[in-house]
Amino acid sequence: MLNTMQTVGLDMGFGWMKVWSGPQQFKFPAVVARGNSRNLARVTETFTPGQLVLDVEITDENTGRTEHYFLGDLAVREGEQPTYVWAKNKVQDEMAVACMATSLALVAENDKQDIYLITGLPIAHFGTQLRENYEKHLRGRRLTIKFLSGRLQGKVKQIRILSSKVFPQGYGAYLDQLMDDQGGIANTEYLRPTGVLDIGFKTSDIVFVQDMQPVDRNSFPLELGMAWAYEQVQRHLSSTYDIHKSLEEMEEIFEERQIRINRDFRRIDQWVDSAYQALTDRLKNEIARKWLNITDLETILVAGGGGIALFDFLDFPQKVLPAEAQFANAKGFWKAGQKIAGGLINAAKPAEA
Ligand SMILES: Nc1ncnc2c1ncn2[C@@H]1O[C@H](COP(=O)(O)OP(=O)(O)OP(=O)(O)O)[C@@H](O)[C@H]1O
Ligand SMILES: [Mg+2]
Repeated sequence: MLNTMQTVGLDMGFGWMKVWSGPQQFKFPAVVARGNSRNLARVTETFTPGQLVLDVEITDENTGRTEHYFLGDLAVREGEQPTYVWAKNKVQDEMAVACMATSLALVAENDKQDIYLITGLPIAHFGTQLRENYEKHLRGRRLTIKFLSGRLQGKVKQIRILSSKVFPQGYGAYLDQLMDDQGGIANTEYLRPTGVLDIGFKTSDIVFVQDMQPVDRNSFPLELGMAWAYEQVQRHLSSTYDIHKSLEEMEEIFEERQIRINRDFRRIDQWVDSAYQALTDRLKNEIARKWLNITDLETILVAGGGGIALFDFLDFPQKVLPAEAQFANAKGFWKAGQKIAGGLINAAKPAEA
């Protein structure tokens, strides 16, 4: 059985779900709505064939309960009351479990798949009971996911979580830089003290790593992320144009850097840039208060989706932006999982003569 177990790294953010398993990777906004039978024609209009339409029916095989959900962009566009999943305890929150189950179904290699799940908890909650609670509630979980429309229509995945491990968020980005795909040490420069700024949607996790381990007393959470920048621009839109946009909608506005006003589009580059600059300044102030010896750090790894957005605004000379910064945690969790799972499989093999 161990040989067929698939290792999956999952980063359940307040803004986006990120899942990584070898060549398979997906992300979608962590937004959920109750499913309804909707006008399929509209979906064909608003979604391109390459886009993920997450119209899913999920059965929790441990309780026997089945529910229908819209997730990600589909929830934002077609859901009746789309909401971000902001539960603290994600493994016991129905909506968060729906996001988790769907993420696993997207990467599962087989229709029936046993999974070794490595995931993260925000630094703020890592040292609490929640970590044990996560591992306990994930182990043995059985979920069936049925895709009801889009290009995945008709696909059914039966998932069983055989085992799980939980790391602090942000530390995954470090592991990703340190390790190769089998979990071996690839970059020895990361054996020196490293800082990680994992800048997310609602929060940022600031992690200090020494001797390959996260150091508690120098790691800290900040209640500050991209949503703060969105709120600044939301305010400008409302006071200048009387346009009111939800946080879910701001995501697209930031991406396009323009806003539709009747039949025209207005560029909002200046608002976006000044919001990014102000957010960077606030983050930098908080970090400077806690990290008194920043110059001792060999590398400051800037990760998370917010890291991509703010990288040019940060003026640390030792800053590094990894290739897939938004996926960095999920990818690092997967790499660490590969190493642990490799050890388990070797231990389970009969000793060779
Ligand atoms: N290519 C990009 N350019 C600019 N900004 C980006 C890019 N990709 C992602 N973002 C920003 O990053 C945000 C999401 O980042 P991320 O996925 O790291 O957050 P999260 O992990 O869900 O949040 P948290 O860490 O607070 O739980 C998006 O909301 C968007 O603002
Ligand atoms: Mg995050």
